[in-house]
Amino acid sequence: MAMRRAIACALKKSVTATSTNLTSFSSPFSRNLHSSSDSKKIVGVFYKANEYASMNPNFVGSVEGSLGIRDWLESQGHHYIVTDDKDGPDSELEKHISDLHVLITTPFHPAYVTAERIKRAKNLELLLTAGIGSDHIDLKAAAAAGLTVAEVTGSNVVSVAEDELMRILILVRNFVPGYQQAINGEWNVAGIAYRAYDLEGKTIGTVGAGRIGKLLLQRLKPFNCNLLYHDRIQMDPELENQTGAKYEEDLVKMLGKCDVVVINTPLTEKTKGMFNKELIAKMKKGVLIVNNARGAIMDTQAVVDACSSGHIGGYSGDVWYPQPAPKDHPWRHMPNHAMTPHISGTTIDAQLRYAAGVKDMLDNYFKGEDFPPQNYIVKEGELAPQYR
Ligand SMILES: NC(=O)c1ccc[n+]([C@@H]2O[C@H](COP(=O)([O-])OP(=O)(O)OC[C@H]3O[C@@H](n4cnc5c(N)ncnc54)[C@H](O)[C@@H]3O)[C@@H](O)[C@H]2O)c1
Repeated sequence: MAMRRAIACALKKSVTATSTNLTSFSSPFSRNLHSSSDSKKIVGVFYKANEYASMNPNFVGSVEGSLGIRDWLESQGHHYIVTDDKDGPDSELEKHISDLHVLITTPFHPAYVTAERIKRAKNLELLLTAGIGSDHIDLKAAAAAGLTVAEVTGSNVVSVAEDELMRILILVRNFVPGYQQAINGEWNVAGIAYRAYDLEGKTIGTVGAGRIGKLLLQRLKPFNCNLLYHDRIQMDPELENQTGAKYEEDLVKMLGKCDVVVINTPLTEKTKGMFNKELIAKMKKGVLIVNNARGAIMDTQAVVDACSSGHIGGYSGDVWYPQPAPKDHPWRHMPNHAMTPHISGTTIDAQLRYAAGVKDMLDNYFKGEDFPPQNYIVKEGELAPQYR
């Protein structure tokens, strides 16, 4: 329906344009997206900064910071609404669904864009993710409706790879119980040391070796570990040499060898719930898992059960489903976890990069230009290959 709407709108524009420019219409999808310089209604959904808003002038990723693009957008006559109120029928976002043209949201505080919302968003043309990972959007519904979905590819990959390295060390060294002792006034070396190890010599595998996975492997190299990776695609031999990582075509075989597993794939139909009871059972007893990719790649209860039985020796990550994680989310209370809210990709450095990337794409959109090709997740009715 929205696709028909987009086509009808594009046709209308092309008819209007024919009096001055006979060549202005070709594709109903991209021409509709990029041809208009009218005033647009743009809605941004971000997390609220509250008392932290004024503490850093570069804190642009919040509602208050609004990606630092308000003056720029308003000076061009666009209407920019920003909120953190995203869920449920009475939310602020819901009030704008029927007439917004562009929705910007972040994976840290995702606006869930369901097929039903897409159906009601009659003016919607463009969905931008300020960051990486657009699984909060029903991508098939967006494609069917002729919408464009794009993210700021590469914007926070260093931020996430660094954070993963930290989480690996936190788990291997059994850091969290030591920290808890420090704040609780305790001193019990044995309570930490009985399961604290060196990273050197351990086998570490990444499931997914795209931008983040490769950066992690590069950072792990000096620790003298055995590095493995599984991916849909084998990496360049030169990079394989440089990281010293070995390709494992068979995921289950790789998992059986690893002391530490790091997950670095997107959340897709293929990876959703991939780490279920059966797959976890094939991992080494006591395996440590780091997951900054997406919470829903794991079967929530299977992780709780395996942490409770000790089959998983430690689990750390910043991604949950849903987000924000409810107060009673079982991962908050399972043993041997080192979870945080979704923070790894929203360092101040990352915020500045993804804010600049969003601004560039909006500028392209207003000018009728294409985005950098790697940023497209849905374009002209097609999903990016790894989401198909
Ligand atoms: N926690 C955060 O703040 C944060 C920030 C950025 C990205 N992320 C998550 O990390 C993911 C990866 O980011 P990236 O920049 O490295 O993406 P990328 O596209 O560069 O790499 C993803 C890799 O996963 C592989 N892959 C996809 N499906 C697979 C499958 N079924 N089996 C095996 N391999 C598969 C791809 O071939 C690719 O090499 C994002 O999609 C996002 O979900 C999280």
